[in-house]
Amino acid sequence: MAKNPHYLSQMAHVELLSTNLEETARFYTEIVGMDETARDENSSYLRAWGDYFLYTLKITQSDKKGLGTIGWRADSEEALTDCVQFLESTGNGIGWVEADKGRGKAYRFKTTEGITHEVFWDVKWLRETGEKGSKFADRYASNRRKGACPRRFDHVTYLVAKGSYAFGEKPFWQGMGLKNPDEIRLEDHIPAIGGLWTIGNLSHDIAVFSDPNLPEGQGILNHICYNVDSREEVLLALDWFVENGYTSVWGAPTRHKADEGFFFYIMEPHTGILLEIYACARLIFAPDHGPDIHYLKDNPNDAWGLTNPFAEAAKSGKVGGIVKPVDI
Ligand SMILES: [Fe+2]
Repeated sequence: MAKNPHYLSQMAHVELLSTNLEETARFYTEIVGMDETARDENSSYLRAWGDYFLYTLKITQSDKKGLGTIGWRADSEEALTDCVQFLESTGNGIGWVEADKGRGKAYRFKTTEGITHEVFWDVKWLRETGEKGSKFADRYASNRRKGACPRRFDHVTYLVAKGSYAFGEKPFWQGMGLKNPDEIRLEDHIPAIGGLWTIGNLSHDIAVFSDPNLPEGQGILNHICYNVDSREEVLLALDWFVENGYTSVWGAPTRHKADEGFFFYIMEPHTGILLEIYACARLIFAPDHGPDIHYLKDNPNDAWGLTNPFAEAAKSGKVGGIVKPVDI
């Protein structure tokens, strides 16, 4: 049988660093409505009700805020071996790390912009029983309509130095075999400044955008995203956040032009990372699709409004606790 032309099967988790583990864990359990499925001295492991592995979000106590590691599951045990060989050949490899809760040993690597990732094959699946269990065989936990009630982990977005996207991140993810459904450009003759990348059928597992304020090699995480099934659930989730004292960082919910997701963002202060709640993005099935080209002047973030959240953020220099996301 022909092999898939890639090493990975899905983005499996993201680790965020928090300066207040207890408060961040409380936010994600009580307000967002996720389940804490494991805990140790330094970390809380969480997932949405519709996730299948032990965790999709790990929060780790730290003296700094931001991204820990982005975790990918390989396509197979053999694909993991091939992937490590590829990463060693490109110079992106860091080395093996021991098994963690929820996954077997993993191979760490860094992209050109210093974002740390890991790839592994062995994972722990978790089918809840008892009060979190579901009567439905397809559900590994019941939907208890808790908090903002996201269904599943969807994607992450990070930012890199000006010029680093086209000649660093883009060829790297091409080499890893990801598809590139959407690309962001200033003009046709200028190299791309950002793009969406997916290993399966989601609109993207990662989005990478240029931020001219960032120094080379010091990429930063902008947001993580959890999915709900409908636009109505996005609106209900925002009501819930507002009832609990949070505000939508970039105003009223709207629809991305690139990827079509309907969305809003909330800032979790102790990680400094935005949480996006999102629904109804397009799916990508063809292996030879894309990229569809978006121009910055057309505001690819917002299909309906004239508000360009990136440009607004640029004026203040910051969004919440983090450097402004990108100069569009
Ligand atoms: Fe997003």
